[in-house]
Amino acid sequence: MKQENLKKYLTHPVFEHLRTTVNQTALPTYVVGGFVRDRLLGKPFKADIDIVCVGSGIAFAESLHPLLKGAKPITVFKTYGTAMIQWQDLTLEFVGARKESYQKHSRNPIVQIGTLEEDQNRRDFTVNALAISLNENDYGALIDPFHGMDDLHAKILRTPNDPNITYSDDPLRMLRAIRFACQLDFTIALPSLEAIRENAQRITIISRERIVEELHKIIACDQPSAGFLLLEKTGLLPHILPELCALKGIEEIEGHRHKDNFYHTLEVVDNICAHTDNLWLRWAALLHDIGKAPTKKLIPPTGWTFHGHEFVGAKMVYKLFKRLRMPLNEKMKYVQKLVLLSARPIALVDDQVTDAAIRRLIFDAGDLLDDLFTLCQADITTKNPKRFKRYHENFQWVRQKMEAVEARDAIRNFQPPISGEMIMKHYNIGPSRPVGLIKEAIKEAILEGEIPNEKEAAWNKMIEEGKKLGLKSHEK
Ligand code: CTP
Repeated sequence: MKQENLKKYLTHPVFEHLRTTVNQTALPTYVVGGFVRDRLLGKPFKADIDIVCVGSGIAFAESLHPLLKGAKPITVFKTYGTAMIQWQDLTLEFVGARKESYQKHSRNPIVQIGTLEEDQNRRDFTVNALAISLNENDYGALIDPFHGMDDLHAKILRTPNDPNITYSDDPLRMLRAIRFACQLDFTIALPSLEAIRENAQRITIISRERIVEELHKIIACDQPSAGFLLLEKTGLLPHILPELCALKGIEEIEGHRHKDNFYHTLEVVDNICAHTDNLWLRWAALLHDIGKAPTKKLIPPTGWTFHGHEFVGAKMVYKLFKRLRMPLNEKMKYVQKLVLLSARPIALVDDQVTDAAIRRLIFDAGDLLDDLFTLCQADITTKNPKRFKRYHENFQWVRQKMEAVEARDAIRNFQPPISGEMIMKHYNIGPSRPVGLIKEAIKEAILEGEIPNEKEAAWNKMIEEGKKLGLKSHEK
């Protein structure tokens, strides 16, 4: 079935070279997948272009490669029958048209050569199965046997094949469906949604790295809540982020109720997305309350309490990252620290708050102070307009107070006015416990406001502490 001509989307110089290669090799060739979808949606030019050949995709790529001056060496994946060329800013992926069948407990398909239509049929969604011909007789023609164009206009994600087969074949597609729905503001067709529900458990055969890649993409959306609600609705969430599932539900005992921390969390994530593109700050918003499930306790007459949930939550961040095989690097520490500190600014909303408490938070948060405030402000989800205004004003007040304290005491990026080296030199000792104790005492005295953040005062404090420890000066 041939439809409208889409030559206008094939303006990049690479398409001239592709056309020449089609003529040389006589291999029927098409551009498919995300490139076509995004062009039709009016999205920016996609630098990853998927090419499908009826015949050998590898042979086609090998014929094209010499025409692309300055291209990196061609990469061939013989087992998958695919090839990849990087040229200028483009990544070109080549595959021979195929039909696939999968074994029940494996992600590795048995690949058989197929027609273009069979290849389109084995793809995940009709909007991703749209193909544009690169062949001389119908260059630019849209080949759309599964009505992807109709679905694109209706903003629907539908599988070309029976959804049960599509998702069972490659369970990652369940996450892709949700990610595309969230990214493109599309709806998942009902039979697809049901099939995802039925196959949800099969997500466990997918590598955690690939799952995380999709999670990142959901979190990078304008409104990640749409994706997380779908993950929850389809039963995928317990297999991926059980910590979030555990936040679901409202309990009421003897008139004491608490809010549903799952939906609250999703609101916080959406809120923060309006203020930051920082993926890890968004992750911190997603995880900031995970410690609430294991710490929840009803303490009459106070009501529901979540004592220490920030500490527990920060520990859970580590375990969660580890389980999902996310790098346990400074990004993880960043998320952990924000979770740990997430309740601190609110505690400063009090007329009686001391400068010492303010200095402590500035010191503990360090470079993360602004992000911490962004998180805390996103955490305000009350529907009561008066309270909403008051909470924001309170934070404004804390911020101003912090700025005043910081201007005076320069606590941010605190560098002790007396270093460990200076202490060791003065007492002629090596790295040892007394050095740490003196440093800690100086830091504490500065944060508590006992002494100013200055060298002379800190020196005097060192002498005082040195005496207590029975140290003797060796400097003249
Ligand atoms: N595809 C598929 N099943 C998958 C992954 C990909 O059927 N699990 C097919 C789809 O036709 C898809 C194409 O391969 O359009 C290219 O995949 P990929 O580059 O991963 O995704 P895009 O659709 O291009 O979109 P994005 O880059 O946003 O992921």
